[in-house]
Amino acid sequence: MRIATLFLGAALVAGASYALAAARPPAQDPVAQDPVAQDAEAHAETVLETHMLTVKASIRALRRSLRDAESAPASLTSIGAMQAAILAAKGETPRMAERIPEAQRAAFLSAFRLEMITLMRAALDLEAAVLNGDQEQVQSVFDALRELEDPAHEKFTDGE
Ligand code: HEM
Repeated sequence: MRIATLFLGAALVAGASYALAAARPPAQDPVAQDPVAQDAEAHAETVLETHMLTVKASIRALRRSLRDAESAPASLTSIGAMQAAILAAKGETPRMAERIPEAQRAAFLSAFRLEMITLMRAALDLEAAVLNGDQEQVQSVFDALRELEDPAHEKFTDGE
């Protein structure tokens, strides 16, 4: 009985945090502030794509805000939105997985998830650099984060 209550409690907390993430207030939602991203989101075909579009919109906002240490609060908001999107994306399955032979699919999905972890690490490093106020570090971590996109898309999408 006790254990069942604990499980129910944990499920409720998990459910509530998903609900909160889904109802992002507009001020913390980079897509809501970016008409190009909004249009793309309206045409997104998968949940993963929607999260990727949030990552992209966050990066667009960060390209401006990271230049100026005084915009650190705005940068931290965008980085938070990006981390939430990566966390959600990490649990999704790329469309391409359907076309991977079954014998290789588990390895493909592990490689995808490991690459998402790398992206999340870069997003955490970026947050730390902003908090430390180290502008040089901010720029080098941001560049490294952006460089993850193309090789990852080569491996995990087939251009649909
Ligand atoms: C800076 C990093 C990244 C950005 C800005 C980004 C952005 C995007 C965007 C905008 C899309 C939608 C389709 C398109 O317009 O190309 C997309 C799709 C996709 N991205 Fe990323 N991405 C990034 C990193 C990654 C990483 C690290 C992975 C893998 C771990 C990944 C895996 C995918 C997959 C699998 C799709 C296809 C969606 C699907 O299969 O449903 N992306 N990404």
